[in-house]
Parts: sequence; C-alpha cells; structure tokens
Amino acid sequence: MKRKVDFLIIGSGIAGLSYALKVAKHGTVCMITKANEDESNTKYAQGGIAAVMHQPDTYEKHINDTLIAGDGLCDEKIVRMVVEESTDRINELIKWGAQFDKNASGEFDLGKEGGHSENRILHHKDNTGFEIERALLEQVHSNQNIEILDHHFALEVLTQHHLGKYVNSKTEGVECYGAYALNIRTQKIEQILAKITVMATGGAGHVYGSTTNPLIATGDGYAMVYRAKGKLEGMEFVQFHPTALYNPGERPAFLITEAMRGFGGILKTVDGNEFMHKYDKRASLAPRDIVARAIDHEMKTRGDNFVHLDCTHLNTDELIKHFPNIYNKCKQLGIDFTKQPIPVVPAAHYICGGIKVNTSGQSSIKNLFAIGECSSTGLHGANRLASNSLLEAVVYSHRAAVKSIKNFSAISHCEKIPDWNAEGTASPEEMVLLTESLREVHSIMTNYVGIVRSNLRLKRAFDRLLILHNETENLYERTTISPKLCELRNIIKAAYIIIKAAMQRKNSIGLHYNIDYPSTKF
Ligand code: FAD
Ligand code: SIN
Repeated sequence: MKRKVDFLIIGSGIAGLSYALKVAKHGTVCMITKANEDESNTKYAQGGIAAVMHQPDTYEKHINDTLIAGDGLCDEKIVRMVVEESTDRINELIKWGAQFDKNASGEFDLGKEGGHSENRILHHKDNTGFEIERALLEQVHSNQNIEILDHHFALEVLTQHHLGKYVNSKTEGVECYGAYALNIRTQKIEQILAKITVMATGGAGHVYGSTTNPLIATGDGYAMVYRAKGKLEGMEFVQFHPTALYNPGERPAFLITEAMRGFGGILKTVDGNEFMHKYDKRASLAPRDIVARAIDHEMKTRGDNFVHLDCTHLNTDELIKHFPNIYNKCKQLGIDFTKQPIPVVPAAHYICGGIKVNTSGQSSIKNLFAIGECSSTGLHGANRLASNSLLEAVVYSHRAAVKSIKNFSAISHCEKIPDWNAEGTASPEEMVLLTESLREVHSIMTNYVGIVRSNLRLKRAFDRLLILHNETENLYERTTISPKLCELRNIIKAAYIIIKAAMQRKNSIGLHYNIDYPSTKF
C-alpha cells in the first residue's frame, strides 16, 4: 500500500503532536505511531515544563541555570533562543487547553527542581505530561487535516538508497522521501511518501536494564537516521534520573519526581543520614548528573541497594495535594510517604544527545526534521536541566513547522520508491533468541556503560555488543519483520552509538564520567 502526504510525522508525543497542529493548516498530515496514540514518554512526565513566566524569575537566570547544568557543553546561542521563546510556547499550550496548577491568588504554582535557581516549573499536579498529551490529542482529533495511524511502526526512512543509489553522505546530500511502516494489525508494510518527514520518536531508555521510560523508548529514531547516514551527536550523555522507585522487577521503573526534592524532600542513606552536602553545596537539589553519581557512590561504598527520599517532615496535606499519583503508587506498595521514607535508585531516563539539527530542527538529511528527545539541538550540553525537555520539544516543533511550511510546496514526491522486499524471509521460530539478546544488551549497558565508566568497561561493552549486533543483523536478513525484532535491532544500534561516542570522549564531563579521565569536580 502507498500513501502520499505533504507532512509525515513519526511519533505522537508532545513534539509530533504540536508540530502537526501547526502544519495542518497548510497541507495534509499523516502521523504514525507504533503503539496506542497516547503512549509516549510525554504521557509520563511528572515534574512539569520549565519556563520563565514572571518576576522574580528572568530569562537570564534560566539561561544561566541551563548553562551550569550542561557543564560547559551547551550552545549558549541555542539556550538563549529556547529560553526566550518559552513564554510564548507555554501560552500556546494553554490556548490548546493544557491546564497548569495555580495558587490561591490565581498565579501559576511554580515548582522547583535540581539546578534551578528559581521556582519556574509549570505543572499539573504530578502528572503534567498526561495533561499535555490529553490536551494536544484533543486538538489533533478535531483537525480534519491530520490522520493518525496508530500501531504503525516506522521501519526505515526512504532515501536514495531505496532507489538503488549509493550515496556518499560526506560528499553528496542524502534526501528523505518518507518512510516504510509496518501496519502491526495487518502485518503489511506500507510506503508513505512525504515532502517533509519529521522524526519525533523520543528516547532510548530501554537500551538499559532499568529505566523510567515506557516500552516505546527503544531508540528507533536514532537507529533509522544512523542507518540512513544522518548525523548524530552527544549520545554519550545518557541522563540517569536519581530517584526512581526501588521496586525490583518493575519495568519500567516508576519515577519519583525531582519536584519532591524541590518541595523539601531530602536524600538520606538507609540509616537516616543526609549525604548530598558531601558532594555539592546545593545538596539534594544539585543537577542530576551530580546527584545520580553521588547516590551511585553511596550505594556502592555502603553495599546498599537503594537510598531514601525522606519527606516525612513536610506538610502532609500539601504533599498529598501536590503528588497524588506518587502517593497512591507508594501506598499500593505499602509505603505511606507522609510517614515513611521512599526507597529510590537511579534509572536511565533521558538521552541528551541525538539527531543533530539546526535552529529549525533540520537534520543533516534533506527534508528530514528531528524534534523532541530524539534530536540534539545544543540546548542540553553534557547534562539536561530538569524539565527543559518538554520546553525544547515545543520550541523546536514550532521552529520546524515554520521552516517546513516555507519549504514544502517546492518539494515533489519521489514516485519511484519500490515496495518493501520481503523475499527470502521466514517467520521467527525462536522468540527466545530475541529475549535473550535483549537481556544481554541490558546487562552490557548497565554494567559497563552506566553512571560510572572506564576505558576497559567501554571496550568490553563494545566487543560484546558487536557479537549481538552481528547475530541480530543476520536474523533480520532472514526473518519476517516484527516490532520485537526491529526494536531489538534499534536498541542494539542505539547502544552501539552510545558506546562509540563514549569511547571517543577523552574527558569526564557532565553525565559522561570515565574514571580513566578523573575530573576535578565530583
Ligand atoms: P515521546 O513523548 O517519547 O514520543 C515518542 C513517540 O514516538 C511515541 O508516540 C512513540 O510511540 C513513537 N515512536 C517511537 N518509535 C517509533 C517508530 N519506530 N514508529 C512509530 N512511532 C514510533 N521532561 C520534562 O521536561 N519534564 C518532566 O517533568 C519530565 N518527566 C519525565 C518523566 C518520565 C517518567 C519520563 C520517562 C520522562 C520525563 N521527561 C520530562 C522527559 C520528557 O517526557 C520527554 O523527553 C518528552 O516527553 C519527549 O517527547 P517527544 O515528543 O520527543 O517523544
Ligand atoms: C521529574 O519530574 O523529576 C522529571 C523531570 C525531567 O525529567 O525533566
């Protein structure tokens, strides 16, 4: 089956949805998404979205906080641009129906998270992402120009390669013509031709054994663009959230928002002692790289499986009012956080790098944009400031939409792309091959490419991953396409890109901490 549209968007999180709403006035939009339409990292965002709304906060303070968190690797021009556009984009989300909590005097009830010098996080209780996803989907449903195809898995972006031409990406431009997508319900592979294609596929938490990300976060966007010879950068900067709920066996790990520390929660060892002041004067509210590393260090030196987040000294009613979902979740596990500390551990949470884009979200591949978590804009540097990712997604979806609207009418569809060739493939006989390979990737990444790395660990990870890579590519060549196989392949590719980037970096900075390159900072 062939479809032809002006704009193809891959992914229905905050980035894809907000882009769709903007371009839909100008042309036909097809959005594909591999699971239910609302399933995304966006849906699970808790703390909120950072933005400068009023005094005493200023753009300069938010810019400065972002630069400090990024440990010297942010692009200052980009930081300034994103922060200065924050207020307009928030007002737009509100116009689209997203509701952010207000205090008794009608002002936004702004929260605080690690690395922020002011209260500037707009939130909807502790399920901000759910509220944003709801509002955006409601708008998208009422727009006749947008078609959402759920349970459609993007397999590859279409380029000259599919016309049988070899393209040397260094000397010639690779162009994108759309994507092949597997309709999971019919098991048919469709060809979607587009003038503009937008990667909005989110992150890759499932490269690791423990992650806060929902199951969709398998690095598909990074892998597809890498295979198409697009540029990626900064993939060594994997952000581990310091406080996922310690509940062995639960996957994904349930997040305990940093906003609880912003509200006054304190990190303690299991015997009740505060420790963060030993590592940073901002203590429990230091940027995430420092807090996650400190927790990792305490757990390893003490031989503990978790640390505690203690909120028992805080106002009970206010705590439950602000964090009702976390309260209910903990209660189900027999933990009343108003009376007992919450056991927490770091878990893979966010990829700071990604598909390299310019200020309009354009990737190195012509007519292919990348927005949201899958992109690398220069905003986050070596460590993302909390709650800057939802902001980055709306700023860049706006910028990408402006550029796309300007460009698309001069682009023609490429009609010569052949149908997907499934010749010579057979149904998989042994699912155990996939599940075991996935388990091995998780073990490699968790043990050798985690919060603390070394040259030896990275080399070991690389060598072991190569075996899995070759086995999986071989399986892919001779097996009928399935989402599980494609996800495994993408996870392995994303892991490979992370390890390679980590091996190439010869210093310790931000989230990349290699004991062979000791840092003067913790
Ligand atoms: P996503 O929202 O992840 O959407 C990706 C979409 O792409 C999904 O619809 C997915 O199904 C689809 N997709 C992926 N691969 C394919 C494929 N091959 N084919 C078709 N579709 C595909 N950030 C903040 O700023 N503030 C917060 O408070 C916050 N809290 C968080 C809490 C949790 C638990 C998590 C996991 C993340 C949190 N983050 C937060 C990070 C933030 O939620 C994400 O970075 C952001 O939502 C990413 O949005 P996105 O639109 O880029 O991608
Ligand atoms: C959180 O609520 O702690 C997550 C915020 C983020 O990842 O930006």
